[in-house]
Amino acid sequence: MYPILINIWMTIGIITFIILLIISAPYGRHSRSGWGLTIPKRLGWIVMESPALYLLWIYYFLYDGFSNPVLIFFLIIWSVHYFNRSFIWPMRIKKDGTMPVLVALMAFLFNAVNTFLHGYWFFLLDINYDISWFSEPVFIIGFLIFIIGAFINIHSDNILMRLAKNTEHGYKIPQEGLYKYVSSPNYLGEIIEWLGWAILTWSVSGLVFFFWTIFNLLPRAISHHKWYKEKFEDYPKERKIIIPKIL
Ligand SMILES: NC(=O)c1ccc[n+]([C@@H]2O[C@H](COP(=O)([O-])OP(=O)(O)OC[C@H]3O[C@@H](n4cnc5c(N)ncnc54)[C@H](OP(=O)(O)O)[C@@H]3O)[C@@H](O)[C@H]2O)c1
Repeated sequence: MYPILINIWMTIGIITFIILLIISAPYGRHSRSGWGLTIPKRLGWIVMESPALYLLWIYYFLYDGFSNPVLIFFLIIWSVHYFNRSFIWPMRIKKDGTMPVLVALMAFLFNAVNTFLHGYWFFLLDINYDISWFSEPVFIIGFLIFIIGAFINIHSDNILMRLAKNTEHGYKIPQEGLYKYVSSPNYLGEIIEWLGWAILTWSVSGLVFFFWTIFNLLPRAISHHKWYKEKFEDYPKERKIIIPKIL
Protein backbone atom coordinates (compact mmCIF):
# COMPACT_ATOMS: atom_id res chain seq x y z
CA MET A 1 0.00 0.00 0.00
CA TYR A 2 2.71 2.49 1.02
CA PRO A 3 4.67 2.41 -2.27
CA ILE A 4 1.42 2.97 -4.21
CA LEU A 5 0.53 5.99 -2.07
CA ILE A 6 4.05 7.39 -2.44
CA ASN A 7 3.98 6.98 -6.23
CA ILE A 8 0.59 8.69 -6.49
CA TRP A 9 1.82 11.53 -4.25
CA MET A 10 5.02 12.01 -6.26
CA THR A 11 3.02 12.07 -9.50
CA ILE A 12 0.71 14.74 -8.07
CA GLY A 13 3.82 16.65 -6.96
CA ILE A 14 5.34 16.64 -10.45
CA ILE A 15 2.04 17.80 -11.98
CA THR A 16 1.81 20.56 -9.33
CA PHE A 17 5.38 21.63 -10.13
CA ILE A 18 4.56 21.98 -13.84
CA ILE A 19 1.35 23.92 -13.08
CA LEU A 20 3.19 26.26 -10.67
CA LEU A 21 5.84 26.95 -13.30
CA ILE A 22 3.03 28.22 -15.54
CA ILE A 23 0.67 29.81 -12.96
CA SER A 24 2.19 31.42 -9.85
CA ALA A 25 0.28 30.62 -6.65
CA PRO A 26 -2.05 33.63 -6.14
CA TYR A 27 -1.02 34.84 -2.67
CA GLY A 28 1.30 37.56 -1.33
CA ARG A 29 2.79 39.73 -4.08
CA HIS A 30 1.31 37.40 -6.73
CA SER A 31 -2.27 37.92 -5.47
CA ARG A 32 -4.83 38.64 -8.16
CA SER A 33 -8.58 38.59 -8.47
CA GLY A 34 -10.56 35.70 -9.90
CA TRP A 35 -9.60 33.04 -7.32
CA GLY A 36 -12.90 33.04 -5.41
CA LEU A 37 -13.52 33.66 -1.70
CA THR A 38 -10.68 35.04 0.41
CA ILE A 39 -9.75 34.89 4.09
CA PRO A 40 -7.38 37.02 6.20
CA LYS A 41 -3.77 36.08 5.46
CA ARG A 42 -2.83 35.27 9.06
CA LEU A 43 -5.85 33.02 9.56
CA GLY A 44 -5.05 31.29 6.25
CA TRP A 45 -1.51 30.44 7.39
CA ILE A 46 -2.73 29.10 10.74
CA VAL A 47 -5.42 26.95 9.14
CA MET A 48 -3.21 25.55 6.38
CA GLU A 49 -0.01 24.86 8.34
CA SER A 50 -1.28 23.67 11.73
CA PRO A 51 -2.48 20.20 10.55
CA ALA A 52 1.17 19.21 10.23
CA LEU A 53 1.48 19.87 13.94
CA TYR A 54 -1.64 18.32 15.44
CA LEU A 55 -1.88 15.34 13.06
CA LEU A 56 1.60 14.10 13.95
CA TRP A 57 0.81 14.50 17.67
CA ILE A 58 -2.34 12.41 17.13
CA TYR A 59 -0.21 9.66 15.58
CA TYR A 60 2.09 9.71 18.63
CA PHE A 61 -0.80 9.36 21.05
CA LEU A 62 -2.48 6.65 18.98
CA TYR A 63 0.63 4.54 18.43
CA ASP A 64 2.51 5.07 21.71
CA GLY A 65 5.24 7.16 20.10
CA PHE A 66 6.34 8.55 23.45
CA SER A 67 8.08 5.30 24.39
CA ASN A 68 10.73 5.77 21.68
CA PRO A 69 13.39 8.49 22.28
CA VAL A 70 14.34 8.72 18.57
CA LEU A 71 10.73 9.28 17.52
CA ILE A 72 10.30 11.80 20.33
CA PHE A 73 13.30 13.69 18.98
CA PHE A 74 11.77 13.69 15.47
CA LEU A 75 8.51 14.98 16.94
CA ILE A 76 10.31 17.78 18.81
CA ILE A 77 12.14 19.22 15.80
CA TRP A 78 9.08 18.82 13.55
CA SER A 79 6.92 20.58 16.18
CA VAL A 80 9.40 23.44 16.63
CA HIS A 81 9.36 24.06 12.87
CA TYR A 82 5.58 23.84 12.53
CA PHE A 83 4.80 25.79 15.71
CA ASN A 84 6.84 28.62 14.27
CA ARG A 85 5.28 28.33 10.81
CA SER A 86 1.67 27.88 12.02
CA PHE A 87 1.47 30.33 14.93
CA ILE A 88 4.57 32.50 15.47
CA TRP A 89 5.41 33.41 11.86
CA PRO A 90 1.80 34.38 10.90
CA MET A 91 1.61 36.69 13.95
CA ARG A 92 4.78 38.49 12.87
CA ILE A 93 3.95 39.16 9.21
CA LYS A 94 2.06 42.22 7.92
CA LYS A 95 -1.46 41.84 9.27
CA ASP A 96 -3.25 43.34 6.28
CA GLY A 97 -4.03 41.28 3.22
CA THR A 98 -6.01 38.21 2.33
CA MET A 99 -5.48 34.95 0.50
CA PRO A 100 -7.86 32.82 -1.55
CA VAL A 101 -9.60 30.07 0.44
CA LEU A 102 -8.57 27.76 -2.40
CA VAL A 103 -4.84 28.34 -1.71
CA ALA A 104 -5.35 27.71 2.03
CA LEU A 105 -7.36 24.57 1.26
CA MET A 106 -4.74 23.16 -1.11
CA ALA A 107 -1.93 23.84 1.37
CA PHE A 108 -4.07 22.26 4.12
CA LEU A 109 -4.45 19.11 2.02
CA PHE A 110 -0.74 19.08 1.23
CA ASN A 111 0.15 19.25 4.94
CA ALA A 112 -2.44 16.64 5.87
CA VAL A 113 -1.19 14.11 3.28
CA ASN A 114 2.48 14.83 4.01
CA THR A 115 1.94 14.30 7.75
CA PHE A 116 -0.13 11.17 7.13
CA LEU A 117 2.73 9.69 5.06
CA HIS A 118 5.24 10.54 7.82
CA GLY A 119 3.05 9.01 10.53
CA TYR A 120 2.58 5.92 8.36
CA TRP A 121 6.36 5.60 7.92
CA PHE A 122 7.14 6.14 11.62
CA PHE A 123 4.40 3.93 13.09
CA LEU A 124 2.81 1.56 10.59
CA LEU A 125 5.92 0.27 8.87
CA ASP A 126 8.43 -1.77 10.75
CA ILE A 127 11.30 0.75 10.84
CA ASN A 128 13.80 0.16 13.59
CA TYR A 129 14.54 3.56 15.11
CA ASP A 130 16.35 2.34 18.21
CA ILE A 131 18.57 4.46 20.46
CA SER A 132 21.70 3.71 18.36
CA TRP A 133 20.10 5.92 15.65
CA PHE A 134 21.49 8.96 17.49
CA SER A 135 25.06 7.84 16.70
CA GLU A 136 24.40 6.95 13.04
CA PRO A 137 26.24 9.18 10.51
CA VAL A 138 22.97 9.81 8.63
CA PHE A 139 21.40 11.19 11.79
CA ILE A 140 24.35 13.43 12.70
CA ILE A 141 24.91 14.76 9.15
CA GLY A 142 21.17 15.14 8.48
CA PHE A 143 20.60 17.02 11.74
CA LEU A 144 23.46 19.44 10.96
CA ILE A 145 21.99 20.11 7.51
CA PHE A 146 18.54 20.57 9.09
CA ILE A 147 19.90 23.16 11.56
CA ILE A 148 21.78 25.07 8.83
CA GLY A 149 18.63 25.14 6.65
CA ALA A 150 16.41 26.26 9.56
CA PHE A 151 18.88 29.02 10.42
CA ILE A 152 18.97 30.32 6.82
CA ASN A 153 15.17 30.13 6.57
CA ILE A 154 14.43 31.94 9.85
CA HIS A 155 17.22 34.50 9.41
CA SER A 156 15.98 35.35 5.90
CA ASP A 157 12.32 35.46 7.01
CA ASN A 158 13.39 37.87 9.79
CA ILE A 159 15.07 40.17 7.23
CA LEU A 160 11.81 40.32 5.25
CA MET A 161 9.83 40.97 8.41
CA ARG A 162 12.07 43.93 9.35
CA LEU A 163 11.87 45.22 5.79
CA ALA A 164 8.07 44.96 5.75
CA LYS A 165 7.89 46.83 9.09
CA ASN A 166 9.86 49.73 7.63
CA THR A 167 7.80 49.77 4.43
CA GLU A 168 4.31 51.06 5.15
CA HIS A 169 2.93 50.01 1.77
CA GLY A 170 4.51 47.92 -0.93
CA TYR A 171 7.88 46.26 -1.11
CA LYS A 172 11.61 47.08 -1.04
CA ILE A 173 14.68 45.32 -2.37
CA PRO A 174 16.12 43.22 0.49
CA GLN A 175 19.85 43.85 0.86
CA GLU A 176 20.90 41.91 3.94
CA GLY A 177 22.19 38.38 4.53
CA LEU A 178 21.89 35.90 1.67
CA TYR A 179 19.59 38.34 -0.16
CA LYS A 180 22.84 39.81 -1.49
CA TYR A 181 23.19 36.64 -3.56
CA VAL A 182 19.70 35.30 -4.25
CA SER A 183 16.12 36.56 -4.40
CA SER A 184 14.64 33.86 -2.15
CA PRO A 185 17.10 32.65 0.50
CA ASN A 186 14.19 31.84 2.83
CA TYR A 187 13.09 29.19 0.30
CA LEU A 188 16.67 27.96 -0.10
CA GLY A 189 16.82 27.51 3.70
CA GLU A 190 13.49 25.67 3.73
CA ILE A 191 14.68 23.27 1.00
CA ILE A 192 17.99 22.60 2.83
CA GLU A 193 16.05 22.06 6.07
CA TRP A 194 13.87 19.31 4.58
CA LEU A 195 16.86 17.74 2.85
CA GLY A 196 18.37 17.45 6.34
CA TRP A 197 15.12 15.97 7.62
CA ALA A 198 15.05 13.35 4.84
CA ILE A 199 18.62 12.35 5.73
CA LEU A 200 18.26 12.36 9.51
CA THR A 201 15.07 10.26 9.40
CA TRP A 202 16.35 8.25 6.38
CA SER A 203 12.74 7.94 5.33
CA VAL A 204 10.87 7.74 2.03
CA SER A 205 8.29 10.17 3.45
CA GLY A 206 11.08 12.65 4.21
CA LEU A 207 12.59 12.25 0.74
CA VAL A 208 9.24 12.84 -0.95
CA PHE A 209 8.62 15.87 1.28
CA PHE A 210 12.01 17.26 0.22
CA PHE A 211 11.00 16.93 -3.47
CA TRP A 212 7.59 18.47 -2.75
CA THR A 213 9.29 21.44 -1.08
CA ILE A 214 11.23 21.99 -4.30
CA PHE A 215 8.04 21.52 -6.34
CA ASN A 216 6.34 24.24 -4.26
CA LEU A 217 9.16 26.70 -3.78
CA LEU A 218 11.32 26.63 -6.91
CA PRO A 219 8.52 27.92 -9.20
CA ARG A 220 7.66 30.56 -6.59
CA ALA A 221 11.30 31.64 -6.32
CA ILE A 222 11.39 31.99 -10.13
CA SER A 223 8.21 34.12 -10.02
CA HIS A 224 9.64 36.30 -7.20
CA HIS A 225 12.88 36.85 -9.12
CA LYS A 226 11.02 37.84 -12.28
CA TRP A 227 8.71 40.11 -10.25
CA TYR A 228 11.65 41.88 -8.55
CA LYS A 229 13.35 42.50 -11.91
CA GLU A 230 10.14 43.90 -13.42
CA LYS A 231 9.30 46.07 -10.40
CA PHE A 232 12.74 47.52 -9.59
CA GLU A 233 14.90 48.88 -12.40
CA ASP A 234 17.89 48.93 -10.04
CA TYR A 235 17.47 45.29 -8.99
CA PRO A 236 21.01 43.85 -8.65
CA LYS A 237 21.90 42.10 -11.93
CA GLU A 238 24.22 39.54 -10.32
CA ARG A 239 21.56 38.31 -7.89
CA LYS A 240 20.43 34.75 -8.68
CA ILE A 241 17.04 33.08 -8.12
CA ILE A 242 17.74 30.65 -5.31
CA ILE A 243 21.27 29.12 -5.44
CA PRO A 244 24.15 31.63 -5.11
CA LYS A 245 26.17 31.96 -8.34
CA ILE A 246 24.38 28.98 -9.96
CA LEU A 247 20.61 29.36 -10.37
N1 LIG B 1 7.65 23.74 2.68
C1 LIG B 1 6.90 24.33 1.77
O1 LIG B 1 6.46 23.68 0.81
C2 LIG B 1 6.57 25.80 1.88
C3 LIG B 1 5.61 26.38 1.01
C4 LIG B 1 5.34 27.75 1.11
C5 LIG B 1 6.01 28.53 2.05
N2 LIG B 1 6.92 27.95 2.90
C6 LIG B 1 7.66 28.80 3.85
O2 LIG B 1 6.78 29.76 4.43
C7 LIG B 1 7.45 31.02 4.57
C8 LIG B 1 6.63 32.12 3.90
O3 LIG B 1 6.46 31.85 2.52
P1 LIG B 1 6.01 33.03 1.51
O4 LIG B 1 5.80 32.35 0.19
O5 LIG B 1 4.93 33.86 2.10
O6 LIG B 1 7.37 33.91 1.51
P2 LIG B 1 7.67 35.35 0.85
O7 LIG B 1 6.90 35.52 -0.41
O8 LIG B 1 9.14 35.49 0.81
O9 LIG B 1 7.04 36.41 1.89
C9 LIG B 1 7.28 36.35 3.27
C10 LIG B 1 6.69 37.61 3.96
O10 LIG B 1 7.54 38.74 3.70
C11 LIG B 1 6.85 39.76 2.97
N3 LIG B 1 7.80 40.24 1.93
C12 LIG B 1 8.40 39.45 1.01
N4 LIG B 1 9.27 40.18 0.25
C13 LIG B 1 9.16 41.44 0.69
C14 LIG B 1 9.79 42.68 0.28
N5 LIG B 1 10.69 42.68 -0.69
N6 LIG B 1 9.44 43.82 0.92
C15 LIG B 1 8.53 43.80 1.94
N7 LIG B 1 7.92 42.66 2.36
C16 LIG B 1 8.22 41.50 1.76
C17 LIG B 1 5.65 39.06 2.34
O11 LIG B 1 4.60 39.98 2.09
P3 LIG B 1 3.47 39.59 0.99
O12 LIG B 1 2.67 38.48 1.59
O13 LIG B 1 2.70 40.87 0.82
O14 LIG B 1 4.17 39.18 -0.28
C18 LIG B 1 5.31 38.02 3.43
O15 LIG B 1 4.60 38.64 4.49
C19 LIG B 1 8.86 30.86 4.01
O16 LIG B 1 9.78 30.65 5.06
C20 LIG B 1 8.76 29.61 3.14
O17 LIG B 1 10.00 28.92 3.10
C21 LIG B 1 7.20 26.62 2.82
